[in-house]
Amino acid sequence: MKPIYLDYNATTPIASEVADAMYPFIEQHFGNPSSNHRYGAIAKSAIGEARQQVADLLGCNFDEIVFTSGGTESNNYAIRGAVLANQGNHIITSIIEHPAVLEVCHYLEQQGVQVSYVPVDEYGVVDMHSIESAIQTNTVLVTIMHANNEVGTIQPIAEIAELARKHNIIFHTDAAQSIAKIPTHVNELKIDLLSVAGHKLYAPKGVGALYVKEGIKLERLIHGASHEQHRRAGTENVASIVGLGAACKLARETCQQEYQRLKSMRDYLFRKINQSIPEIRLNGHPEIRLPNTLSISFPGIAANTLLKLVPEIAASVGSACHSGKINMSHVLAAMSVSEQDATGTIRFSLGKMTTEDEINHATELLVSAYANLINKKKVYASS
Ligand SMILES: Cc1ncc(COP(=O)(O)O)c(C=O)c1O
Repeated sequence: MKPIYLDYNATTPIASEVADAMYPFIEQHFGNPSSNHRYGAIAKSAIGEARQQVADLLGCNFDEIVFTSGGTESNNYAIRGAVLANQGNHIITSIIEHPAVLEVCHYLEQQGVQVSYVPVDEYGVVDMHSIESAIQTNTVLVTIMHANNEVGTIQPIAEIAELARKHNIIFHTDAAQSIAKIPTHVNELKIDLLSVAGHKLYAPKGVGALYVKEGIKLERLIHGASHEQHRRAGTENVASIVGLGAACKLARETCQQEYQRLKSMRDYLFRKINQSIPEIRLNGHPEIRLPNTLSISFPGIAANTLLKLVPEIAASVGSACHSGKINMSHVLAAMSVSEQDATGTIRFSLGKMTTEDEINHATELLVSAYANLINKKKVYASS
């Protein structure tokens, strides 16, 4: 029996529709899209179709999409590219970003760029006033993630983008976790730059995209030949790009109904655990949250000990505990979650293949393992 996979925020399997679209480009159509012959033309046209499919999901023009190697590269390109190509050397970001944003900012700080890290409230929502008061005359970029990978909280992106636009500041969002889960129309959200990570939406690992609004200047990250309209050099990863396009098409067709299905299953999982363990704590915003994400703190235990007792479940711990030392998650710490609660935090993230049977089975296993752990603790305490 395969473990019950509840870690879709870490990565997703490749959807069968995506694999089907990719297969001819693995097996048969090997041409270099830059070649001026029939082989090249087939690959080039497939990339063009994929670019349109990504653009359709984001509601933008196809020439505003640049294919990359994934979310990390897209974030690097957006942040470094914006700082290098535009006037100003101050960035505003939040303290709960993914390392693919935070580490870029830390690197830029070493190069003399100033960075303001704005706080979040107890639900993980960024503080608008802090963003507004952090704005300086030399602010070149605001980069705030659309939805958080650990707790699922969705940020007020449209408002932040509006604020940035009012001050003539470029706005970037890391949408690695929100794409295909909630609407991500760049024009409605007034976004200038948006990062996509293929493997979070049932496309392969190692492919992604950056939306670059027409007119936004970016310095290149990768130099070489003239691929991707001179924006990203290197022969294109054709099969994976085709896969990303197919995944975006699938997301457009299924996002709305999947939203409801995932949300009700996620809430059912919470209710079932809560019935047996009323002391659990929900992390993240109770409402304004990704429909598939459930971060909960189990009191009195270490999450990795609990998960070790249930190898039938594949989920993530909120804060890792190594040889008695707690490596507290920067997201939970920013939300003022206590060290004890953070240690007992598990992130469950549901996806396309999750079934109600799996949720029922996972709950039974978890609740009984938790009871065993607590009973053991009681026996130790009384002996
Ligand atoms: C919010 C967020 N940004 C960026 C990334 C990095 O994306 P990739 O793995 O495609 O480089 C991830 C992946 O975990 C993520 O969750």
